[in-house]
Amino acid sequence: MAEFALPANSKITGKTRRFEAPEGAEKVRSFSIYRWSPDDDENPRYDVYDVDMASCGPMVLDALIKIKNEIDPTLTFRRSCREGICGSCSMNIGGTNTLACTQPIDELKGEIRITPLPHMEVIKDLVPDFKHFYAQYASIEPWLKTKTPAPAGKERIQSEAQRDELNGLYECILCACCSTACPSYWWNQDKFLGPAILLQAYRWLADSRDEMTGERLDQLEDPFRLYRCHTIMNCANVCPKGLNPAKAIAEIKKMVVERQV
Ligand code: SF4
Ligand code: SF4
Ligand code: FES
Repeated sequence: MAEFALPANSKITGKTRRFEAPEGAEKVRSFSIYRWSPDDDENPRYDVYDVDMASCGPMVLDALIKIKNEIDPTLTFRRSCREGICGSCSMNIGGTNTLACTQPIDELKGEIRITPLPHMEVIKDLVPDFKHFYAQYASIEPWLKTKTPAPAGKERIQSEAQRDELNGLYECILCACCSTACPSYWWNQDKFLGPAILLQAYRWLADSRDEMTGERLDQLEDPFRLYRCHTIMNCANVCPKGLNPAKAIAEIKKMVVERQV
């Protein structure tokens, strides 16, 4: 059942700490960052960090790393590749879910507000809990499933056209920007798989080598798992890789209908 108010201990009522830029800094940008730790009884708060841009790289992740290295080592966030490939640094920046490592600071105006991805439990600061998201991913069995034996001594091959069917799907980095921007997922994530996992499900349905299409569709054909998508399109608007999960969901719905006629 959806909760419409934040629990008392989640309200952002903690006192803001401000960390000013060093004297003489000429180009300063301010970052207002969500802070919460499970290690004390404090409510969440925003801390504001003034960063000297003369010695900072161009992306939001550069600023976060600079803050952690030089201003406040307690700030906690995930990152790995800094290339938009691993999906670790997804967060809400200036009101939009995106990747910190590919978001240029110059494209953002005024004080930059950074919070964890919305509607996920927070482990600490900007780190959300992906356990449920990954369990949903595991539920679609995201690997090639076959019934026939592999051709002796050969790989299961695809034509160029068959391989092209995977374009726009295989690039997904499971950052969850789309799912956590989807109102249907906010309210029903216990049952609705959400755009990221459904795009991944379609990636295997669209694979010419996979031989479990019927079983995969049986597993998805459910009023909640698939049909909570109402084509609001937030998912396609925020995907930092330019993918269109709503289109993949529409393709799954089409496959469900087509197998019935
Ligand atoms: S199109 Fe569907 S999955 Fe995408 S944001 Fe809208 S409801 Fe969610
Ligand atoms: S579809 Fe895009 S936004 Fe969604 S998880 Fe994949 S890469 Fe991230
Ligand atoms: S650090 Fe890997 S996607 Fe940003």
